[in-house]
Amino acid sequence: MRLKALLVSGVTLMAASVGSAAYAQQAALMPLPAAMSAGTGQLLVDGGFTVALAGPADPHLTVAAHTLIQRLSAKTGQFLAGAPVAKGATLTLTVTGVSAAVPAPQEDEAYTLTVTPKGASITAATSVGINRGIATFAQLVTNGPQGWAVPAVTIHDQPRFPWRGLLLDVSRHFMPIASVERTIDLMQAVKLNVLHWHLADNQGFRVESKVFPKLHQLGSDGDFYTQDQVRQVIRYAADRGIRVVPEFDMPGHTTAWLVGYPELASAPGPYTIERHWGVFDPALDPTRDSTYQFLDRLVSEMTALFPDPYFHIGGDEVNGEQWKASPAVQAYMKAHGLKDTAALQALFTTRVQAIVARHGKHAIGWDEIMDGDMPKDVVVQSWRDTESLKKAALAGHAGILSAPYYLDLSWPAGRHYAADPMPENLPAGLEGLILGGEACAWSERLSPENLDIRLWPRAAVVAEKLWSPKDMTADIPAMYARLDSVADDLAFAGSRHRAANEAMLARVAGPAGVGAVWSLAQAVEPLKDYNRSTQRPDAVQSTPLNRLVDAIPAESAVAREFGLAVDRLIAQPGDTAARTQVRSLLERWQTAETLLAPYRQATPLLAELAGPAAKLTRLAEAGLAAADAVATGKPLADRAAAKKALAEAVEPGAELEFAILPAVTRLVKAAP
Ligand code: ACM
Repeated sequence: MRLKALLVSGVTLMAASVGSAAYAQQAALMPLPAAMSAGTGQLLVDGGFTVALAGPADPHLTVAAHTLIQRLSAKTGQFLAGAPVAKGATLTLTVTGVSAAVPAPQEDEAYTLTVTPKGASITAATSVGINRGIATFAQLVTNGPQGWAVPAVTIHDQPRFPWRGLLLDVSRHFMPIASVERTIDLMQAVKLNVLHWHLADNQGFRVESKVFPKLHQLGSDGDFYTQDQVRQVIRYAADRGIRVVPEFDMPGHTTAWLVGYPELASAPGPYTIERHWGVFDPALDPTRDSTYQFLDRLVSEMTALFPDPYFHIGGDEVNGEQWKASPAVQAYMKAHGLKDTAALQALFTTRVQAIVARHGKHAIGWDEIMDGDMPKDVVVQSWRDTESLKKAALAGHAGILSAPYYLDLSWPAGRHYAADPMPENLPAGLEGLILGGEACAWSERLSPENLDIRLWPRAAVVAEKLWSPKDMTADIPAMYARLDSVADDLAFAGSRHRAANEAMLARVAGPAGVGAVWSLAQAVEPLKDYNRSTQRPDAVQSTPLNRLVDAIPAESAVAREFGLAVDRLIAQPGDTAARTQVRSLLERWQTAETLLAPYRQATPLLAELAGPAAKLTRLAEAGLAAADAVATGKPLADRAAAKKALAEAVEPGAELEFAILPAVTRLVKAAP
């Protein structure tokens, strides 16, 4: 009998029996564990599944047990007893120590997971490692002929990088506590361990300040977190082994602060909350002592509220316009020999860093903060390019990579996955300065409704990049082979990426019925990078995010499958299975125009889709003709029409792009 290798790439796990191999194959782990070896047989996870705790009592550990029970109940559809049992449990969670109130930046996250047909155990130093282990265990549970089970296995696992973050921008669009806590649940499920909470920006100051109440009272439209809610979120995250790092972006990105405190700016105001997207002129005035007195009191309040040793001070995208326009600021710069506004910002950063340090914290800033003469303990977060981390490390700074991990730019998962956090050609000995990375969810076009569609499952791919050994994260097709199952698991852990997609598409379809937009939705993706802003520069904070473009994932799985089938057909014109798959998808897309035609004027959400649907129909017709030409070897009859369809498909409109365009283009090119 041939033994089957596990689907998980890079891990040569040979299953000892075909039965367990079948289950193991379905178990899509993400992140891949550092080391695993298969045992014999499987452990059933039936309605009698129980968890026991061992080692010193720790409330965080109890939450971990409940988290696992809940997740397994959701995944297996079985009622599982909620409370840990004293002994004889299916799974025992053993710790040797009690975790601190909140996780530390260099926490021991290693765990060992052992599964035999008789029982399972996860051991770790504290509940933090247990949290990582239960995330793996939940993913390992798969369904087979005998029901739900985990294959026998031994896993020794620990992260490659200590800092594995997710930035959540709650300023541009406020995210309610439920969204934040759900995000934390999902971070736990893929072993992300830092919630970077972007709390203040031009469009909203989102945390209650008792010292300067006009910050949230006038700067948030009433959408802010009370300090009690902040403490609740920090506790919720700590229970799941996750740190919370707040960001108060300054001196730019501060318009919302200035509504209540215009005297902080270099121009008199008055100010209103910014409703547009982009980079704006208002900035804190770096030349007045009163600015630093204000910041000292605010930092004092906020560093007391947020226990993490790191405190993010932003520093990005200061255009210097207010400073250039202010005679007082210009006079100050002249008197202090500051040659440009970057030098002035560097002075500001130095003083704010000193304030942060005086309150016992390490400052983090976006890569612009390196322009100054920063103390070495300032951490640099790259967003403009990957080179900045190397530059930072050469200057002695620790760094966090974000530039290739912007989830709001609607890149495919594979593009994020291709970026390694470790800069190339980093001199030996500096590797330790690369702390890890953060996926970023900037929220110009994210709402509580479509947040999960933008985050999941793509953030899991970044999580793997940050957790798993480098040589295990090089195979992009193998990553995609696991991604669908990972997305299922995330849904069981609470992600609404699929539910929201369906509900939003139903709203878009309205009287047409969701079937009428479904084929179009699978052929398109949102415009990438910042091209949505270019196509709709008039979008503002109140612009509804309820269109097709807001409802669809960044990457169409169907379009990806289509592309692979097209490549098989081009490589093997006699491959009838590939031809059938290509044709059946194209035939579905061909109907897009007809399906929508009766409803073209029914609602504005449908009206904007008439153009894209018509172009999709033409594109599909071109694809069908080309596919037949490739398969039969007979010349493409109307190449001019095909080329016209391709050219028109470059800009579908409605802030969309055709995800299938590259593959159809390849087909037309390959057609004789
Ligand atoms: C940034 O994206 N401006 C940090």
